[in-house]
Amino acid sequence: MNDALLDVIVQTREVQGADVAVLELAALDGQALPRFAAGAHVDVHLAPGVVRQYSLCGDPARANVYRLGVLREAQSRGGSAAVHVQLQAGALTRISAPRNLFPLVADAQRSILLGGGIGITPLIAMAHTLHARGEAFELHYRARSRSRCAFVDELLAAPFAASVFTHFSDEGDDQRLDLAQVLGDPAPGTHLYTCGPTGFMDWVIAGARAQGFSAEQIHHEYFQVEVDSAGAGFEVQAVRSGKTLQVAPEQSLLAALREAGIAVEVSCEQGVCGTCLCDVLEGEPDHRDHYLTDEEKQSNEQIVVCCSRARSARLVLDI
Ligand code: FES
Repeated sequence: MNDALLDVIVQTREVQGADVAVLELAALDGQALPRFAAGAHVDVHLAPGVVRQYSLCGDPARANVYRLGVLREAQSRGGSAAVHVQLQAGALTRISAPRNLFPLVADAQRSILLGGGIGITPLIAMAHTLHARGEAFELHYRARSRSRCAFVDELLAAPFAASVFTHFSDEGDDQRLDLAQVLGDPAPGTHLYTCGPTGFMDWVIAGARAQGFSAEQIHHEYFQVEVDSAGAGFEVQAVRSGKTLQVAPEQSLLAALREAGIAVEVSCEQGVCGTCLCDVLEGEPDHRDHYLTDEEKQSNEQIVVCCSRARSARLVLDI
């Protein structure tokens, strides 16, 4: 992973649908941007302490431009509102190099891409790559209404438009998303990729499991999660910092660490990005994140400190 930040300029900006800012970012010095693979995101540094992850939704084959689609959230904690206000055409900002926590599997026989609302963004990049590879895929875009969505027109005019299917809640029954039919047979080599609001993804994943898809065939990326980091109190020994602290029932582990003066690098603060990952030396975490895999959670070797807690009365952390 490259930790160096990139200085970029907003080369183009347009608002699509009801409230989606579609931005194209280019390197400030005109140099090439690092290549990325479909499914990657960048951290956008909007202000001190305000860092947000946005998926790259452009064609990965298109050099020198990163494309983002950012929905203005009514409940914005500062991120999407800052993007909409600050990142006008010509504005400068800093981003991380692309990171990919949602990669395509190589040599799939069939790929099913299921996007809910603005969760379509990483799947657009995937569609470009799968089309370029000549692999079989379907891209399904479900949203409340056609007029509120971004990217609809361009997807329906894309070279892979025959593989694009839209499903809008306010249109007829004949275009509703029939999940079981779309998922079909989970034959070996079939892979499902989904991104969208938590409720949508939980529905898709539960449907895929019921249909017989294995964990290895289901790939997902949460971008909008409700974080419940409250629970019973517990004690934390922070070994490298030489401190022991109490986490109160209504306090998050992250807040308690900060209160004790222990610096923790964070980004999403929603248990999604893995920036705040910390090694567990003793004790049993109560994992509440969407970053670690089920196997990693069972091993209890690491904890995502921005949202997780403890099942044991005490945790010993390498921090
Ligand atoms: S800061 Fe992103 S997972 Fe904790």
